[in-house]
Amino acid sequence: MRSSVTEQDISQIPTHVAIIMDGNGRWAEQRNRPRLFGHKAGVDSVRAVVEAAREIGVRYLTLYAFSTENWQRPMQEVSGLMGLLKVYLQAELKTMLQNGVRLSCLGQQERLPDDVRQTLAMVMEQTACCRGMTLNLALSYGGRNEMMRAVRALARKCVAGELDWRRLDEEMLAAHLDTAGQPDPDLLIRTGGEHRLSNFLLWQASYSELYFTETMWPDFRKKEFLEALATYGRRQRRFGRTGAQLQG
Ligand code: IPE
Ligand code: IPE
Ligand code: MG
Repeated sequence: MRSSVTEQDISQIPTHVAIIMDGNGRWAEQRNRPRLFGHKAGVDSVRAVVEAAREIGVRYLTLYAFSTENWQRPMQEVSGLMGLLKVYLQAELKTMLQNGVRLSCLGQQERLPDDVRQTLAMVMEQTACCRGMTLNLALSYGGRNEMMRAVRALARKCVAGELDWRRLDEEMLAAHLDTAGQPDPDLLIRTGGEHRLSNFLLWQASYSELYFTETMWPDFRKKEFLEALATYGRRQRRFGRTGAQLQG
């Protein structure tokens, strides 16, 4: 049997890891339980992965928790997810402060229920001074929606005469995304066996290393996270250059 990966096996630590946490519903269905049971188990994976990432020295962790498309799910599931989110935030605040985890939010916060928004605002404010790791929760997030909001903000500044459209560049667009000021993800993980981006970080993931696993999110814990990091460590990132150029 192959022994599991340890922290020593990881040759390079990605600065930013982004995760599409997929497979909660199927995990529950396989156990003849309601989908929300899978989401609850998924929260324990969130805790485990946040802790592992923090321990190992990942500086930014972005978790896709709810997409703009997920609003189309049955109302009961949506409200169950919102409830879990609120409970998670309330329960984790103390640990986040102890571990220096700063909470940040990507997506259309204004679409979230008031109580969830208030809890998010409270946790973001309290953890604003934390410097250990930034935890981005993507909530009511869609990459296209994020880009449209950025484009609108830029257009408004051009019309107001604050910006000259001839000077618009990639850096300026990036500075108007929800991830402004943060590095792009080095590694993007998707659990649950699907091979798609589902509208996640469409701009920021342009050069991310992709890692897909069949493991359902509730089964994805520290061991599986370390395996993904070890795989990442064996990749050669060429950014358009040749392998020989990188050796030189
Ligand atoms: C991911 O798990 C969690 C959210 C989208 C909120 P799913 O709920 O999509 O689980 P599957 O894909 O149906 O198994
Ligand atoms: C992507 O998962 C969104 C999140 C993990 C929050 P989905 O399960 O919603 O994605 P699709 O619909 O299968 O592409
Ligand atoms: Mg899914």
